[in-house]
Amino acid sequence: QADVFTYDPGFTSTASCDSAITYIDGEEGILLHRGYPIDQLAEKSHFLEVCYLLLYGELPTAAQLEDFESRVTNHTMVHEQMHRFFTGFRRDAHPMAIMTGVVGAMSAFYHDSTDIHDPWHREVASIRLIAKMPTIAAMAYKYSIGQPFVYPRNDLDFAGNFLRMCFSVPAEDYQVNPILSRAMDRIFTLHADHEQNASTSTVRLASSSGANPFACIAAGIACLWGPAHGGANQAALESLKEIGTPDRIPEMLARAKDKDDPFRLMGFGHRVYKNFDPRAKVMKQSADEVLDLLGVENNPILAVAKEVEKQALADDYFVDRKLFPNVDFYSGIILEAMGFPTSMFTPIFAVSRTVGWVSQWKEMIEDPAMKIGRPRQLYTGPSQRDYVDVENR
Ligand code: SDX
Repeated sequence: QADVFTYDPGFTSTASCDSAITYIDGEEGILLHRGYPIDQLAEKSHFLEVCYLLLYGELPTAAQLEDFESRVTNHTMVHEQMHRFFTGFRRDAHPMAIMTGVVGAMSAFYHDSTDIHDPWHREVASIRLIAKMPTIAAMAYKYSIGQPFVYPRNDLDFAGNFLRMCFSVPAEDYQVNPILSRAMDRIFTLHADHEQNASTSTVRLASSSGANPFACIAAGIACLWGPAHGGANQAALESLKEIGTPDRIPEMLARAKDKDDPFRLMGFGHRVYKNFDPRAKVMKQSADEVLDLLGVENNPILAVAKEVEKQALADDYFVDRKLFPNVDFYSGIILEAMGFPTSMFTPIFAVSRTVGWVSQWKEMIEDPAMKIGRPRQLYTGPSQRDYVDVENR
């Protein structure tokens, strides 16, 4: 029995909850999934095995893993009629707008997996959401660039299938490079779950009303879209591009520290981590590997990112406020090098975080003590007073 981590968050609130899935120690920079450190999972495991771990609590045997991967693989297609949803959007619609709409509508297609009190429904809904999210994200991308949708293939792994659905065209099939596929898989693993972040808390709160799983996950996607949360990977790359060259770093760090200046060093700082985000360390290694492979190891933005990190971590403003690179600081550099536009960064985050949302949704629904989320407030408005007719105001 793994040590039960107990810690006093220093507050009691209806917003807090019990969970056995992910543990974060922000001061020490520790992130565990069901007790396993994220750096070990990123190095030794792969995304679908981590999905199994998050969903069921233990690493699978070979037979369990083979069965799970087969079930996910055989749910990667979406109902053909769902293709019509995409044509209802303007071409320039943000892929997150499309994903929010399409995933919310999934309950209209998959009636046999919406009853949250039926264990079989819960299991099928979990598999469908994990399996179909990359297909929906890839379709949103293809629609935005005017290319035909690419169907998933059962002979490819999760990450390779996603890359091919995004980059293959009828005129030339996409050959999945195993190093890029591994880097994509690692990005999925690093974003899989993260305790009670804003989008996961949104999913839990929505789920507590008994809403169907597809509607709840759509709520999580909407929340993740925010630039201070899932949108930070897109914003972080834009921050680095705004800096542009190493000689501009001191000036831009000064602007990031100036409260009157709107410039923020996106990808730095975290609500919980007041030490290095352990995911950022792995992401930085991955950035070197991918860019070396792609022959862009001299990528000017990667050079700027490394110099920004070096100078910021030597700057009292960032050190005193415990602002370190978070998971988003390097991820955008990798994704752009792979060929993704910045608009696809947050959808890729959503593809990965779906397993975290679903795992925590299942955990909450299966908890007999589960109550509807009803956070209270500290009222700061006027005390009771009587109505005044308009002529006397
Ligand atoms: C994610 O919760 C999760 O788990 C989320 C996530 C996940 O996996 O789900 O980890 C994903 O959302 C990562 C975070 C991505 N967001 C960004 O990178 C956006 C940039 N970061 C900031 O918006 C900020 O750091 C937060 C919102 C992430 C955290 O805010 P905190 O911890 O509440 O800190 P704060 O905003 O109260 O800031 C503390 C101080 C302030 O200065 P003072 O008032 O003390 O003078 O630090 C400053 C802030 O102004 N500060 C920054 C800064 N972040 C905080 N100054 C410059 N640049 C920054 N990036």
